[in-house]
Amino acid sequence: MGLTRNDKMKIGVLKETVPGECRVASTPDIVKKLTAQGFEVLIESSAGSAAHFTDEEYQSVGAQIVDAQTVLAADIVLKVRKPSQEQIAQMRDGAVLICFIEICEDDGTLKALLAKNIKAIALERIPRISRAQSMDALSSQSNIAGYRAVIEAAAHYGRFLPLMMTSAGSAKPSRVIILGVGVAGLQAIATARRLGADVYAYDIRPETQEQIQSLGAKPIVLDIGESGSGEGGYAKELSEEAKAKQQALLADELSKAHVIITTALIPCRPAPTLITEDVVKRMREGSVIVDLAAANGGNCPLTEADQVVNRHGVILVGHTNYPAMMPSDASAFFAKNIANLIDIMVDKTEDGLVLKDLAEDEITAAAVIKP
Ligand SMILES: NC(=O)c1ccc[n+]([C@@H]2O[C@H](COP(=O)([O-])OP(=O)(O)OC[C@H]3O[C@@H](n4cnc5c(N)ncnc54)[C@H](O)[C@@H]3O)[C@@H](O)[C@H]2O)c1
Repeated sequence: MGLTRNDKMKIGVLKETVPGECRVASTPDIVKKLTAQGFEVLIESSAGSAAHFTDEEYQSVGAQIVDAQTVLAADIVLKVRKPSQEQIAQMRDGAVLICFIEICEDDGTLKALLAKNIKAIALERIPRISRAQSMDALSSQSNIAGYRAVIEAAAHYGRFLPLMMTSAGSAKPSRVIILGVGVAGLQAIATARRLGADVYAYDIRPETQEQIQSLGAKPIVLDIGESGSGEGGYAKELSEEAKAKQQALLADELSKAHVIITTALIPCRPAPTLITEDVVKRMREGSVIVDLAAANGGNCPLTEADQVVNRHGVILVGHTNYPAMMPSDASAFFAKNIANLIDIMVDKTEDGLVLKDLAEDEITAAAVIKP
């Protein structure tokens, strides 16, 4: 089964429209690879400009620069963020779409895609198996978020992160706590360590303790009476009793921190509260909290999404799109993940490239949206 055509299979790359979204779904390096594989690549005019990739660079590796309508008529449409209802309406019936669909948000996108019989691959649904690692855009982007969060913290903090010896005396290393040790948290630990901070970390999944130590940080171990390990490597939500216990036990540790990078998330649930207002009041003046869960309500109730605010003398950073703050590398990683995914979706035949049945491979079968 699949789409067999004598003319070349077209891949279209749309320009992102969400405010502040500077990434692009493919880069000139990857377009070069796709055209060599036999795809015709259509790039919306200035799609890469916010990520510092020019139309001329795409053209020089064989892409055509076209308008959005032409991109939307492609066989495979690539985007970072989900398309609008208007864009979906302009897509071909039965086309393939690859992007983050933000599947937990019920805003009618899934219904519109299914109504047009679009084979939409939700990147957040790529299964966490070894074979799919090179296609896991959620992880590549979380990694960037973890790095950038530490850079933001360092920029907002009025003191040094490392031990500093100067002609005017020395500064002690800062005490940095990382909450939530998934992909972003691990990268935040590694980055804070590289900057010389004294790093502590905590996660409800006990298996993270070894990972924390292997990066040269110290695990914070709490007895909250239950484990938070859930399915597929993700965390599960704690009982109300365990949540209250966790907040109370964490309070003393957190109030001693100079910088907190907090990343705790449960898929499709509001972010758990780990840093209460009382803890913020107890932190030293000028301390910084970077809340990577800001888009999901925050791990601190004082965080404001997309704002940097000062509450009780503590700076709370609530950016919601760190990868877009590093758009060149974020786009490069994203584009590579997508190219690896496309590799398992098509067969090369005498008639040219043919789209496989997405149900046949466990990776595409898990990621394609279903009614
Ligand atoms: N291909 C693969 O095998 C693969 C790919 C990506 C991630 N992973 C693994 O999946 C796991 C989850 O990673 P993620 O980055 O998607 O996580 P995530 O973004 O879903 O959540 C971030 C972290 O928050 C933690 N958390 C949730 N509630 C918490 C609470 N109340 N208190 C403290 N911490 C809390 C979670 O345990 C998780 O480690 C990690 O072990 C990661 O290494 C595996």
